[in-house]
Amino acid sequence: MIDATGRPQSVLVLGGASEIAQAIVAGLVPGRCRTVILAGRPSERLDAAADAARAAGADMVETVAFDTTDLAGNPAVVEDVFTRFGDVDLVLAAAGALGDQAELESDPQAAAELITTNFTGLAAALLAAARCMRAQGYGRIVVISSVAGDRPRKANYIYGSTKSGLDAFAQGLGDSLVGSGVGVTVVRPGFVVGRMTEGMDPAPFSTTPEAVAEAVVKGISSGADVVYAPPVLRWVFAVMKQLPRAVWRRMPG
Ligand SMILES: NC(=O)c1ccc[n+]([C@@H]2O[C@H](COP(=O)([O-])OP(=O)(O)OC[C@H]3O[C@@H](n4cnc5c(N)ncnc54)[C@H](OP(=O)(O)O)[C@@H]3O)[C@@H](O)[C@H]2O)c1
Repeated sequence: MIDATGRPQSVLVLGGASEIAQAIVAGLVPGRCRTVILAGRPSERLDAAADAARAAGADMVETVAFDTTDLAGNPAVVEDVFTRFGDVDLVLAAAGALGDQAELESDPQAAAELITTNFTGLAAALLAAARCMRAQGYGRIVVISSVAGDRPRKANYIYGSTKSGLDAFAQGLGDSLVGSGVGVTVVRPGFVVGRMTEGMDPAPFSTTPEAVAEAVVKGISSGADVVYAPPVLRWVFAVMKQLPRAVWRRMPG
């Protein structure tokens, strides 16, 4: 049960091996989060994330197989977690892939798969989570979007459009849940130095998984609808969105 200060005691992570998700879990466990269910593609990385949650102090940590591209199966994975573990206070949707824009442009099937990974498949799982949370009468869903979805650039518009879709979906889901006791927080990080961006030059206002996690944990406590990480990106992108198209087109890769 989420306590009076907004701290969840149980979390289901969709994309359990994500670096950002692991940092968020590390931020939640000392604040009384005791049950951690990490849903992801089975791997040593997922097992290591479970070990890290245990080491941080969580009592009950489990991994479950979950692949966003399994459209038929992934809602059932979510429902099964709610059935087996009882109430779940927080669902964190962190699964996602960046992809290589040039390769995706020349391989429409791979592009469609990325869209399924980042948007369609996650949306199916989130609908299942929302149904379960609506039935329990409380909870929070945190969806990791990106500033790349605020206004997709030509250099990475395939990834960016998956985040625009997911972001719009999450906002609508949040509005549809008003009055149910369930809230939705959309998180829009900028460039996060880590595994996903390895080998890339950091963009302006780049951040770390730990700094994103700090902003998210704070946003969960306050019941924020939207969290930018770092926060200054809210204002940067408010301006970016107003730039004329001809100027935006010239944004560097
Ligand atoms: N890093 C950034 O700069 C940045 C910026 C803005 C937003 N984000 C978003 O933040 C989220 C977390 O990213 P991160 O930085 O923590 O990167 P990460 O460590 O690479 O985490 C991404 C996770 O998504 C999982 N995943 C990918 N495809 C999947 C699928 N089909 N089914 C299930 N899980 C799948 C990966 O699983 P495996 O471990 O099996 O590969 C990985 O654990 C992503 O949604 C990303 O788009 C990241």
